[in-house]
Amino acid sequence: MLLIFSHFEVIYVNISVMKKAIVVGASSGIGRELARLLVKNDYKVGITARRENLLNELYAENPDSYVVGAFDLSEIDVIVPNLNRITEELGGLDLVVISAGLSGQTLDFDFKVEFESLQINVMAFTCICNWAFRIFREQNHGHLAGISSVAGARGWRNSKVYNAAKAYQINYLEGLRNHAAYLKLPVTVTTIIPGYVETRMKGNNYVFWVAPVEVAARQIYNSIRKKRKIIYTYRRWRFIYFLFKIFPNKLIEIS
Ligand SMILES: NC(=O)c1ccc[n+]([C@@H]2O[C@H](COP(=O)([O-])OP(=O)(O)OC[C@H]3O[C@@H](n4cnc5c(N)ncnc54)[C@H](OP(=O)(O)O)[C@@H]3O)[C@@H](O)[C@H]2O)c1
Repeated sequence: MLLIFSHFEVIYVNISVMKKAIVVGASSGIGRELARLLVKNDYKVGITARRENLLNELYAENPDSYVVGAFDLSEIDVIVPNLNRITEELGGLDLVVISAGLSGQTLDFDFKVEFESLQINVMAFTCICNWAFRIFREQNHGHLAGISSVAGARGWRNSKVYNAAKAYQINYLEGLRNHAAYLKLPVTVTTIIPGYVETRMKGNNYVFWVAPVEVAARQIYNSIRKKRKIIYTYRRWRFIYFLFKIFPNKLIEIS
């Protein structure tokens, strides 16, 4: 708020500047809810995914606050040009959230399925982190948040490639955070580690402590606002993650 004195009158002018964010994987689930929350909190948000119709539905809720970019993360060469275009349309960049992910479960060692999962969860993930970090380093501010999973704690026999990729994400984000800290860069890196969240990805699996997507998104938004380094949603998953880490392998074998 700025006060301007003019002919003995006091005029209040609202000069709050909208922050700019990109949510990668905003067509459904956590990314979609998070994009909505960011908009409610005065962000202008670039939303990306493949399902353009769903992105357009979100856009229609508040056309002044969204920029749409529909592209496939498995086409590695199109990622950076699309992100650059969205950033240009937004008029800057303060925050990047990577919510896109693919489970890639295969019980009969179908390499095509594993490869597709790695393309999204490892190659595209790294490409976006690398792109965002270089921008934030150059402009001397910015916040990168990546959504990993408690699955990253250990290797489960039914979801080997997903768990391995989620462990990669946790370690890659830690490396970026350490890089920023070592060079004293004012760049924040947040690692988000959800347990189960009620989304398409969770599917019909019978699991426990499932967070409604709105709750998970709110906890993630709050952690971003507070510039936290690592968060678990629900918070109690932190202890499960720790237990997974120290469980003897015999227990992991049957999980
Ligand atoms: N739900 C859970 O229980 C749970 C638990 C732990 C971690 N997570 C993590 O949370 C993140 C969000 O998942 P979610 O639960 O919200 O599931 P979701 O609703 O399936 O969201 C996944 C998002 O990724 C996008 N995506 C997938 N493949 C893509 C591709 N090739 N190109 C572009 N975008 C692509 C999807 O968009 P399009 O299909 O439109 O392209 C969608 O917007 C994921 O990283 C997931 O691993 C979820």
